[in-house]
Amino acid sequence: MEIFHIGAECYPVAKVGGLADVIGALPKYQNNTENTVRVVIPCYETTFRFQNDFECVHWGKLKLGTFNFPFSVLKEKTNKLGFELYLIEIPELFNRPDIYNYRDDIERFVAFQIASLDWIIGRNSIPDIIHCHDHHTGLIPFMSKYCPKYVKLKNVPTVITIHNSLYQGVFTFNKLYYLPEFDLIHIKELEWGNCINSLATAIKCADEVTTVSPTYLNEINYSGNGLETLYQRVRNKSKGILNGIDLDIWNPENDSMIAANYSIATFSEGKQQNKKKLCLQFGMNPTKPLFSFIGRLYNEKGADLLPKVVTSAFTTFKEEINILILGYGETEIENKLTQLLSTHKGNYNIYIGYDEELAHRTYASSDFILIPSRMEPCGLNQMYALRYGTIPIVRRTGGLKDTIIDFEDDGNGICHDQASVEDVCDSIERAVDLYKDKEQIDKLRIKGMNTNHSWKNVSQEYLELYNLITTKKYESQ
Ligand code: GLC
Repeated sequence: MEIFHIGAECYPVAKVGGLADVIGALPKYQNNTENTVRVVIPCYETTFRFQNDFECVHWGKLKLGTFNFPFSVLKEKTNKLGFELYLIEIPELFNRPDIYNYRDDIERFVAFQIASLDWIIGRNSIPDIIHCHDHHTGLIPFMSKYCPKYVKLKNVPTVITIHNSLYQGVFTFNKLYYLPEFDLIHIKELEWGNCINSLATAIKCADEVTTVSPTYLNEINYSGNGLETLYQRVRNKSKGILNGIDLDIWNPENDSMIAANYSIATFSEGKQQNKKKLCLQFGMNPTKPLFSFIGRLYNEKGADLLPKVVTSAFTTFKEEINILILGYGETEIENKLTQLLSTHKGNYNIYIGYDEELAHRTYASSDFILIPSRMEPCGLNQMYALRYGTIPIVRRTGGLKDTIIDFEDDGNGICHDQASVEDVCDSIERAVDLYKDKEQIDKLRIKGMNTNHSWKNVSQEYLELYNLITTKKYESQ
């Protein structure tokens, strides 16, 4: 099969969150003698772009309504990521350091989708599957189906994977002219809430809708950011497939980013060595349990609870514990968390920003990872934590619910139900008790390290899905 994955991020080329980890790993596991997998993302001004060799495989001009943008398609020469990587270079729109949050994001990502399809139809072969990720590629299932310009792709099955239903790529109908011509009879397919909604469009037009965990699929049927009734309508072409993690990159035995490598046999000493170094950097005492949070500081991640959680936990435990926060996001949360530095010096620290290496070192060093998410379509942090012998403390939602079971129910972590300061603090209290019971905590760490969340099986599940929708599509023609 010839499979195209199209999305906005791909690790290690361009990363904001878990979307990048998925697009950087799943294709690698699908690429084999039977399948050729190609990943297409925009060309941002990132270090990967400048430190690797690319060749230009296509050159063209895309039309976004009345605007014309020259673009080129750059292929990474050595397939070093384990698949063919293509960057769509539209200098006027993407030669910028950040991935999102520009005023013209709609123009940028609509143009990216048009350029991708322009290039794909100009190639010699037609893909067997186009797999789109999130709203940034949500118009592709529509355009490939209904725009005469892309008639060659009309019968190519498309999949939309929803990594986060909160972001939908919504814009008003006065920008309809951005899209290549199509018969207006199909205009309803673009519409949700009187606007063009890219995610809703993909959900309507794709042959299959997947979410990144089974529980998230159930949740969005009643809490789906305004798309509930649509999710209910497409239930028979929807599937929840739990993400995997890249075991090559996330492996404490050979991770070159951490201070000391360790295995199941040596984790006790290995983790302590890592912890010593990290605690030294952040001015903390490595003999105390270390609780960390790694992620974007947004309400959806429950980060707004953190300032009160920190205050309350130190009121209860005084100087018995350490808390470290890595992330960036909403200024108000950043400020509140930074202000706490003066009060809890020596037991608390925060790094505002995103640093992949520091994240690896923190997984290796921490005793517990706090994941208090209000919503979590899948969540990869808990899987990384398990792999590094670190115990996840999670709110039961989405993929967290599918992967973490409370240790008192013979599980692998600590769970609570509400996104509240009280619930998170109760879990911290249980964690402090657990930390004192070395035998039990070590058992849990080993259990976590033995868990296999490899992409291997998951990628197979996607391949089976591709086969299924291909057969269905073929039969219906
Ligand atoms: C998004 C979701 C997260 C998921 C990731 C990868 O970032 O918020 O839960 O793990 O995508 O699918």
